[in-house]
Amino acid sequence: MSDSKILVTGATGKLGQKVVSSLLNDFNIAPEQLIVTTRSVSKLNELCKLGVEVREADFSNPESLTKAFKGADRLLLISIDASGPRTQSHLNAITAAEKAGVSHISYTSMPAAEESPVVFAHEHEATEAAIKLSNIPNVAILRNNWYFENLPEYFASVLQTGFWLTSSGEGKIAEVSREDLAYAAAASLVKDIKGKKTFNLNGTEALTHEEMALQINTTLGTSIQVVQLSDEVYKAKLESFELPKPIVDLCVTMDKHNRLDLSAGNGQDFESLTGRKPISFKTWLNSNKSQLLKLAE
Ligand SMILES: NC(=O)c1ccc[n+]([C@@H]2O[C@H](COP(=O)([O-])OP(=O)(O)OC[C@H]3O[C@@H](n4cnc5c(N)ncnc54)[C@H](OP(=O)(O)O)[C@@H]3O)[C@@H](O)[C@H]2O)c1
Repeated sequence: MSDSKILVTGATGKLGQKVVSSLLNDFNIAPEQLIVTTRSVSKLNELCKLGVEVREADFSNPESLTKAFKGADRLLLISIDASGPRTQSHLNAITAAEKAGVSHISYTSMPAAEESPVVFAHEHEATEAAIKLSNIPNVAILRNNWYFENLPEYFASVLQTGFWLTSSGEGKIAEVSREDLAYAAAASLVKDIKGKKTFNLNGTEALTHEEMALQINTTLGTSIQVVQLSDEVYKAKLESFELPKPIVDLCVTMDKHNRLDLSAGNGQDFESLTGRKPISFKTWLNSNKSQLLKLAE
């Protein structure tokens, strides 16, 4: 690719950090070719020292976005983590990207954004639609499947209690590592993608909760049992743990999504975008064994 500027939003985040690292190290992009944004520039001092341009951008402040995106040619819009104001925030970013004249935008979406019952799916659906309608000529919608990392980050209780409560039934999920998704996002910025494309970025295998639990038990020596519940009983159980309503609604709708096989799929798009296969759940478990075992103690 030419020496056009690449901009990554959300560069402080767990995914964004890996995307930037992948651009620099896997794709040999010069630091001077990179712009990264955050609401707190001091968090990215190390990148600044390397020669990467760090700019302040708050998706809720359109003026900051217009300034931050100036001069960018290819832009990765990493969905923000705040569900609720997210649609308007993303629309602000798309408008600013159009104004800046970017020629390519990649966006981190979710599986089956239009059909999914997940509480935040409509935010991804609206963002995807706005990007497709925008005057940005080249687009990569990255429909990132669920991260393997959600197990320690959101479902550590499964490892801690040995019980995996779910209403996902026979639904299969092709989870994938955050590292692989970061590599795919970096590839989407570097590759010459022409027109508006959607990539379903899944892991190599789609597994039920029982199949995942078996792999966890075999690798870690744990004895996790999956407890299948109806949506109603699952919801009541989560409420009995006094979890906040938004978390309860998220878990129940996520399992409904999984039960409907909306996160099933294969690694075909990942391979066509990156030219390689994503790592398997087993490989990820082995690489993170000590961290996971600590949680299970
Ligand atoms: N597929 C999955 O399983 C899964 C799981 C979790 C999350 N996600 C989605 O994927 C995204 C990236 O994941 P992650 O693990 O990297 O999340 P993360 O570590 O929580 O990072 C979120 C990023 O959003 C940025 N952000 C939040 N509000 C913002 C605003 N108003 N303006 C500008 N930036 C804002 C933050 O930047 P600053 O604070 O530096 O401004 C931060 O870099 C998440 O935000 C979420 O949408 C997907």
